[in-house]
Amino acid sequence: MKRTAHFIKTIPLSPIGIYNALKNSPFSFKETLGYFIRNSYGPSYKNKDIVKYNPQSFCLNDNVVPGYRVAFIGDIMDMAGKNETVSESIKEFVLDCDYLVGNFEATITDADNKGYPLAQRHSIQILEPLTELFEPDRTFLNFANNHAGDFGHKGFSDSLAKIESKGFQTFGTVQKPFAEIGDDIRVVAGTTISNRDCDYIVKLEDADTYYTPDKFNVLYPHWGYDLELFPRPATVTLAKNLINEFDAIIGHHAHIPQAVTSINSEENGSDANKLIAYGLGDFCIWEELKHYLYGMVMKVDIGLNSQEKWQMGQVEWRFITCQEKTDTEWETKIIDTFPYL
Ligand SMILES: [Fe+2]
Repeated sequence: MKRTAHFIKTIPLSPIGIYNALKNSPFSFKETLGYFIRNSYGPSYKNKDIVKYNPQSFCLNDNVVPGYRVAFIGDIMDMAGKNETVSESIKEFVLDCDYLVGNFEATITDADNKGYPLAQRHSIQILEPLTELFEPDRTFLNFANNHAGDFGHKGFSDSLAKIESKGFQTFGTVQKPFAEIGDDIRVVAGTTISNRDCDYIVKLEDADTYYTPDKFNVLYPHWGYDLELFPRPATVTLAKNLINEFDAIIGHHAHIPQAVTSINSEENGSDANKLIAYGLGDFCIWEELKHYLYGMVMKVDIGLNSQEKWQMGQVEWRFITCQEKTDTEWETKIIDTFPYL
C-alpha cells in the first residue's frame, strides 16, 4: 500500500500540491493555512489553560455503584501498510472493562486514492490488534468522522461489511446513529466536518435528536481542530451547552490529546458532576511527524447512585503513543507523560 502521510510534510514545498490541497480542503483558506503551519512547526498552544486537566484518576460522583465499566479510545488511523500491535500495558488497562468504544477513521480498501493524498486507508490487518485488544462483539466502532467519505459510499459500505463480518459493533451512520451499550447506556456519535461530500454519517448538529431520557447518554463527537493542544473558546462553549443535555462528552479528531475535565452539578444545572474529555487523540497512526503519535485511553464507571439515578463515578485515563517497533510493525503503548505539556 502506498504511503500517504508524507503528504503532510511535503505539500508546502509544492505549488501544485498546495493548490490541490486548498481545492480539496474542507476548511477555509485561513484554516487550511493554520493546518499546514501546525503540521510543519508542531502543535499550537493557543488558548492554553482555557480548560484544566483533571488527574489521571478521579471520582466524578460519590456513591455510584458501578454497573458498567466502559473503555474509550480515540482515532484509529491509517497505518500505511505497517502492522499495528497493542502493548500489554493497554490490554491490562482495558482488561476489567465490559465494553470498548473507538473511532475507526479510515476505509479498508486496496483502491487508489485518486490523487487525494489525505484519504485514509486501512488494510484488513488493523482488525487483528483490535480483536486482541478487546472482544469484537463488545467493541463499538464509530464512523461519524471526516474520513468516512474518502472512498465514496460503496467503498465505505464494503469496508463496513468487512468490519462487521469480524463481529465488531458499528455506529455513527445514518442507519445506526448510536451505540446501545447494555440496557442503560447510549453513545451518540456526530461529526462537525467531512473531508468529502458524505450524507451517510451523523452530523454533530443532529446528535441531540438521538438523546434519550431513559438512559445514560454519552456524546462521542468528532470535533475541534488538528494539532491544537487546547480547544477553542467556541468548542468550550458548545461543550458546555451540550453537557446540559448529555450526561458525558468524550471527543476526538484533533490528533493530539486534549484536556479531560469535569463540570460540576451547579454549572451544568443537574444533580450530577459531568465529564467533558475534549479529545482522545490518536490511538494508532503511521506518521513521520512525531506530534501525531499521541493519544489517550480512558475507562469510566457508570452506575446507579443512592437515588437510583445513572451517573458516572470513577474515571481513569492514561497518555498513549504509537511508535515504530520494527521495520514492519508499530506499537501503541501507555506512557507516563505527554511531551507537549
Ligand atoms: Fe478526524
